[in-house]
Amino acid sequence: MRISVSNVELTTAPVDAVIVSVLEGATSLEGPAASVDRASGGMISQLLASGDFKGKLNEVIAFYPQGLAMRKVVVVGLGCAEKLTVEGLRQVAANSVKAAAKGKIATIASALHGAGLAGIIAEDAAAAWAEGALLGLYTYEAMKSKREDKPLAELMLVAPEASQAPELEQGLKRGLALAEATNLVRDLVNAPANHMTPTHMAETALKIASDTGMSCEILERTDMESLGMGALLGVAKGSTEAPKLIVLSYQGNPGGETMAFVGKGLTFDSGGISIKPADGMHLMKDDMAGGAAVLGAMMAIGQLKPKVNILGIVPATENMPAGNALKPGDVITAMTGKTIEIISTDAEGRLILADAVAYAVKLGAKKIIDIATLTGACGIALAHVYSAMITNCDALAAEFKTAADRSGERYWPMPNHDEYREMFKSPVADIKNSGGRMGGVMTGGLFIGEFVGTTPWIHLDIAPTAYTESEKHYQPKGATGVATRTLVSLALLWAN
Ligand code: BES
Ligand code: MN
Ligand code: ZN
Repeated sequence: MRISVSNVELTTAPVDAVIVSVLEGATSLEGPAASVDRASGGMISQLLASGDFKGKLNEVIAFYPQGLAMRKVVVVGLGCAEKLTVEGLRQVAANSVKAAAKGKIATIASALHGAGLAGIIAEDAAAAWAEGALLGLYTYEAMKSKREDKPLAELMLVAPEASQAPELEQGLKRGLALAEATNLVRDLVNAPANHMTPTHMAETALKIASDTGMSCEILERTDMESLGMGALLGVAKGSTEAPKLIVLSYQGNPGGETMAFVGKGLTFDSGGISIKPADGMHLMKDDMAGGAAVLGAMMAIGQLKPKVNILGIVPATENMPAGNALKPGDVITAMTGKTIEIISTDAEGRLILADAVAYAVKLGAKKIIDIATLTGACGIALAHVYSAMITNCDALAAEFKTAADRSGERYWPMPNHDEYREMFKSPVADIKNSGGRMGGVMTGGLFIGEFVGTTPWIHLDIAPTAYTESEKHYQPKGATGVATRTLVSLALLWAN
């Protein structure tokens, strides 16, 4: 699909469908909505006067005008001007483009929504539009033998004035990079575990590296052995799929500090010997969502080229039961030398991340963000509404909050208290890999924190937010691609 900024006149544009927006409670129409209203003999005015359409945020209505170039007009509501946000604009773009694309529509031209309202600049409005539209149109059909016909071939964003085109193009470029990265992550996470193996994740990383010109190293089992990565190797033991430790390195600021994104790449979590119940086990193909988010973020960073150095590290393996698998009661030694008593082989994410974050420190990372579908407890605490975060550094958390607000993603800070660390002390080893049922988000996250030393660090638990059963605005059913856009926003923020 082509997506571009255009200077066409909306009312005469040679397209199948046109999208314009209207504020709630507006007494008179302005801009593109006013032009389309005039050209269509007052159709939009009639919709408003009849009360059929009020212009509430994300309200969408379509009509089929007589004697105009386009077959269909979609009108979308922006709500009240003062309450409009960039996040609202992403939703508006998704809902209006999805409505416009229904039927045999190949080309769509959309007005730029919301620029100049509530302090939103045109570049950000254009970015939100591209992001919302592309994220909203996403579908996963890779495993279907027959794919649905998708006639939509071209999306145009119409610049209010020709002189604004460069600014809109700048925004479009950012929005596209963010959405394409997120959609790649959705593809990786939606893919079944027999396709999305650690090897496949590594191949994806190598492709990202060659496409964007960054470097990529894949550590094999023998490399992990030389490095003494007993925690990662312990989890990988029971699987016949070769584990991979993926290390992407983007260097946009030679001589400057290096930061690291570290994502859990558990391509299938059966629980291991502490096997999970059969119900819902198929969803554990999504247990590599943190790792996928890191790969996607690195792709967007490689395209946008901010002045910052970022490592993208993904420990990738399966967690399987087998004769040679890790057992409850076993004691393993992580790369840092810490010994770990295994209470549950199902608490494997913190084990592979223990060695991965320690490796990030070894490679010189000055700030570390780890991302993982780590605990069922996270969903009990926050449902599908928020991801959890826990940190050892308030300054880094403040940077992260700014980035998350820009992307429209929600993270809730959880308490970091020494008493949670006491919960995973072990009588036989240095620590144990489960602190029990209570406070699982904190004990799971802080376990990983044991391996970063004093490096500023944030752990994100995306277990309840990586996958959804209900469609909402720009979020279709299935993998969400959560964290990808916030990680890219954070890299852009570090660069400035
Ligand atoms: N991958 C799971 C967490 C998970 C649960 C992700 C539900 C997505 C949806 C993780 O490896 C796990 O099994 N965690 C255990 C930890 C426990 C044994 C300490 C859990 O949450 O039950
Ligand atoms: Mn598990
Ligand atoms: Zn897991």
